[in-house]
Formats: sequence, C-alpha cells, structure tokens
Amino acid sequence: MKKILVTGALGQIGSELVIKLRERYGINNVVATDIRKAEGIIAEGPCEVIDVTDANQLYEVAKKYQIDTMMHLAALLSAKAEENPKLAWHINMGGLVNALETARELNLQFFTPSSIGAFGPTTPKDKTPQDTLQRPTTMYGVNKVAGELLADYYYTRFGVDTRGVRFPGLISYVTLPGGGTTDYAVEMYYEAVKNKTYTSYIAEGTYMDMMYMPDALNAIIQLMEANPANLKHRNAFNITAFSAEPEDFASAIKKHIPDFTLEYQVDPVRQKIADSWPNSLDSTAAMEEWGFKAEYDLDKMTSNMLEKIKIKIER
Ligand code: SER
Repeated sequence: MKKILVTGALGQIGSELVIKLRERYGINNVVATDIRKAEGIIAEGPCEVIDVTDANQLYEVAKKYQIDTMMHLAALLSAKAEENPKLAWHINMGGLVNALETARELNLQFFTPSSIGAFGPTTPKDKTPQDTLQRPTTMYGVNKVAGELLADYYYTRFGVDTRGVRFPGLISYVTLPGGGTTDYAVEMYYEAVKNKTYTSYIAEGTYMDMMYMPDALNAIIQLMEANPANLKHRNAFNITAFSAEPEDFASAIKKHIPDFTLEYQVDPVRQKIADSWPNSLDSTAAMEEWGFKAEYDLDKMTSNMLEKIKIKIER
C-alpha cells in the first residue's frame, strides 16, 4: 500500500480512515474521493469528486494518480437501503462492480467492508461462526453477501488481492453515521452529553456487535498489511469488540452521568433489521490469520466518547 484511493471518503469510516492513512503513508499518497466535494482537513490532500456508479470516472482517477490500492467504502447503510432498495442495489452493487473492475484492470490491492448485516434470521445468533449460513432478509444484507462473493470471485478468478471484514456497528464522535441500524448507540452518547436522556428506537434486550472507530481503522490497516500467505479467508472476516444491548450502553454512560435516563420508542423497521442480525460474532479466524485484536471495550470506549463529545459540543 503506497498510493491509496478511498471512495466514500467523507462518510462515517472514510473521513477518519483518510486522516489515518495520510499519517501513515504520507498526505499525497492518499486520494480522497466522494460524491460530495471535500472541505476542511480532508481537502488538505488530494481529493476528487467521483460518482462510483460511473465506471469511467473511477478508472480515470485511479489511473491519473497511479494508485496501487483501493479502499471502496461508498455505500448506503441498512435502514437507508431498506427505504430505497433499488437505489441501494444501484450504488452498493453497481459501485462495487466498477471498483473491482478498476482493481482488476490496474492490478490494485482492494478492500471493501462487509457487515454483520451479511447475516440473517437463520444464521446461528450467538458466537456466529466465520463460515456459516448467510441468508439476509434486507437489501443491505443481500448487497453485502453478493459483495463478499464477488470480491472472492475477483481473487480466485483474476488474482485481484481483495480483502474485507464484516464490521459490527461502528461508534465514533467524529462523523455521524447516516441511515444505519446500529446508529442508536452513537446517538445515545450525544444525547447523554446534551440532554442526559435518550429515546432508543432499538428495543431493550437487542444485542448487536459494536466497535469503536480506532479499532475499526486499525483492523483495516492490519488486514491490508497482512502476509497473504497467512490468509485462508478473504471476504470477509468476522470482527467485533463487544456485544451490547441499549441497557449496556446506558449503564456504561451512567458511570459518568449518573442521572442519565434511557427510554424506548421502537422503530419497527430498524428493529426488524436488528432482530435479523447476530447477537455476537466469533472473530477467531481474524485473530488467527492476521492478528486482529480490539483495544476498546464498552467502558473504555464510553469514557473516551463522552470526553470527546463534551469537547466538541463546548467548542
Ligand atoms: N452499522 C451498519 C448499519 O447499521 C451495519 O453495517 O447499517
């Protein structure tokens, strides 16, 4: 990884990944692309406006900067995809095919994230194995499974060095997620700092895997730098930091804000999505094949989130 192009660079993961990659590989070696024009710190390095559904644009920009690695993050999240399934197919699958084709033509190393959304109601719910039944019931999940298979196909059929992880819900204080099912956890931290109360659209007792963004970014870099000889899997590795339900977040927050209160007003659409996903993933394959390890548990993440959000809001 010497010259990297990131799609969806202004999104929840991209906006932090670009900064981290630029610190590691040099500011001019990370090209940030998004459908929107970059501003602020991202615009301090190379940037391009790209619509990933336009194959030609993607290919031309990759060629212009002579990149050797693509990190394809541009996609719609689960709840947004459920609102507009056809658009989700167009962006999530159309964009991925274009990105993989560019990777094949220019011989690029390739990363794209999958998700806990790649599992469905018939998947074993606890300690979900790396290799198991995947019959998702959401458009997002259909896209993610097809994406995993397609990325593996480009590896076995064309030798493209494709790698991926199944991300759990990602939590960060930097850029808000948009249109996901696990977003409630991020919202709860903001509301805890602002109003000491939060109304959750996900029901009490709904467990999902979660991870703090610094661990997610480290995982991407570690997997991409891993010795390919050690990889038995490619698309995509289960990874998780911890499994939690809304009350777990509330308890962790109460250690810092004792009068915080959590209420519920369940959104049936997002609850149905959450109910179809695993309670907790088994990430043994990622640990064994490339040394994955999360540093933040719920309490450590909570201290950091609350501290950082306070600073952000007071500014
Ligand atoms: N965080 C994502 C979502 O909720 C899952 O990959 O859509």
